[in-house]
Amino acid sequence: MERFHKYSEFRSLKLVTLVIIACIGVILPCCSSKTTQRFKFSVGLKKVTRLCHTKQLLTVNGKFPGPTIAVHEGDNVEVKVTNRIADNTTIHWHGIKQVRTGWADGPSYITQCPISGGKSYTYRFSVIGQRGTLLWHAHHAWQRASVYGAFIIHPRTPYPFSVPIRAEIPVIVGEWWNADVAAVENEMTRYGGGPNSSDAYTINGFPGPLYPCSTKDTFIQTVERGKTYLLRIINAALNDELFFAVSNHILTVVEIDAVYTKPFTTKAIMIAPGQTTNVLLTTNQHPADPSGMFPMAATPYLTTIFPVDNSTAVGFLHYKQPGKFRPKAHLKPPNKFILNNLPKIEDTAFATNFSASLKSLASPQYPCNVPKKIDKRVVITISLNLQDCPSNKTCMGYEGKSFYASMNNQSFVRPNSFSLLETYYVTKLGKAGGVDSRFTAGFPEKPLRPFDYTGVDSLTGNLNTEFGSKILVFPYGTNVEIVLQGTSLLNKENHPIHVHGHNFFVVGKGFGNFDSAKDPWKYNLIDPPERNTVAVPTGGWAAIRFKADNPGVWFVHCHLEEHTSWGLSTAFIVKNGPGPNQSLLPPPADLPSC
Ligand code: C2O
Repeated sequence: MERFHKYSEFRSLKLVTLVIIACIGVILPCCSSKTTQRFKFSVGLKKVTRLCHTKQLLTVNGKFPGPTIAVHEGDNVEVKVTNRIADNTTIHWHGIKQVRTGWADGPSYITQCPISGGKSYTYRFSVIGQRGTLLWHAHHAWQRASVYGAFIIHPRTPYPFSVPIRAEIPVIVGEWWNADVAAVENEMTRYGGGPNSSDAYTINGFPGPLYPCSTKDTFIQTVERGKTYLLRIINAALNDELFFAVSNHILTVVEIDAVYTKPFTTKAIMIAPGQTTNVLLTTNQHPADPSGMFPMAATPYLTTIFPVDNSTAVGFLHYKQPGKFRPKAHLKPPNKFILNNLPKIEDTAFATNFSASLKSLASPQYPCNVPKKIDKRVVITISLNLQDCPSNKTCMGYEGKSFYASMNNQSFVRPNSFSLLETYYVTKLGKAGGVDSRFTAGFPEKPLRPFDYTGVDSLTGNLNTEFGSKILVFPYGTNVEIVLQGTSLLNKENHPIHVHGHNFFVVGKGFGNFDSAKDPWKYNLIDPPERNTVAVPTGGWAAIRFKADNPGVWFVHCHLEEHTSWGLSTAFIVKNGPGPNQSLLPPPADLPSC
């Protein structure tokens, strides 16, 4: 994948470095070379055909998936985003911590007003203390269905794994709808029903041979035998957690969400929307047939009763045969192939074991800075809800009602005429804890009416929710624990919860109800996985810890877009600290207004 419109200042910097070395006669460390990497994104429509359906697809620079952003750890990044459509848009750099630069985070009406048609906004931020694979995606309405791409941070120091890497291959899994995705979203919000599921999954934009009219749209990656490759796997799907595997090949997990892990081998991975997983793959097989092809596949991990796309995207590794050169254009998927290693669609046991195997590297060079003591524990229930239909409306959810979703029984109402961050910046949380009359502090720090969360009957429990825009407030430096408690209201499901502005440590997980007397004793406070999105077990809980040390307003939400639309989100403020570098920076001059 190519890099777009990058004007590197690296050369001039190198020159300056040489001059300094010549003058003072010392070698500067590698890591002081900091450059500004500039990119241009044009958000516009492009005619794209998949499964014999042609439509105007929302893209960046006409690419699907969008362009890869590749930078080095420590770089400054500037992305000028120009909106060439009539609708609003924003872009989010998922997993970039945005230390003090919340203005560049991207979720619409949370950290910025969206970029309106014809306008531009330049996202400016630095990539500090992170290395590996992340993704960027649109963060307005359901635009991320097609507006997404890889965000790669090359390390300044060698990888902690010593095998030589032949090549690095991004594997971005997404979803394809034959219909216009905005129409799918509008119909869902209008009638309160479940959205139409996608028609296909895609690997690097291609569904592969298991779909009608799709064999020519197959991702094929040529590899050499006897080498090790680094696959950068990204789940950019809108509404589905996925299993991914490569037939006949074992994967070694080495990194998740741009944090190194203790390496472990597995036949497949489970990956939730918003998550990334780097794996090593060694091409140690002998192709059985002359095509030299081994399929890779992505299929959903399902815990839902809602209609879902349960199809399978397939791509191929093509073993290059010595002496035989076949140009890429001539490579075709084989007529027959065998998928193995892929777990069954409802394999919760696999998903559970896989996530239990994830551990931070926790080495002297890459320590695991999990807060050992906490200042505040917040318990948040995650529910699906069903509301009565207003008399003047038709509702298409279960029993003629409307679907919603909530955290601590608050279904979050996102503003649509101002951004939380700007309002907070201006009002500084004045007025008796209220940020403004339009949204307030006071999100409940535990469920207001406790119940048997995972034991309640799915359909006869109280399925109503309340609507509001309450958020949490943490003083700078608070060591926070959030227990994300699933419920069985309507249906128990696995929910990938994403926190903006911070990485967190997943210190514990379990099925059933969290027990504050017993469960914390079982926490992993030595080498828990560090990430930005956690898959909360279906009918269970996950406990995450982080130091709230990035001043700003940060969105917290389910990364299944349909659940976010139904209100499964909230936000938290981290107040400025007393130190010189502990305050949110002022807003940039070109910040869009509402
Ligand atoms: Cu990947 Cu709030 O987003």
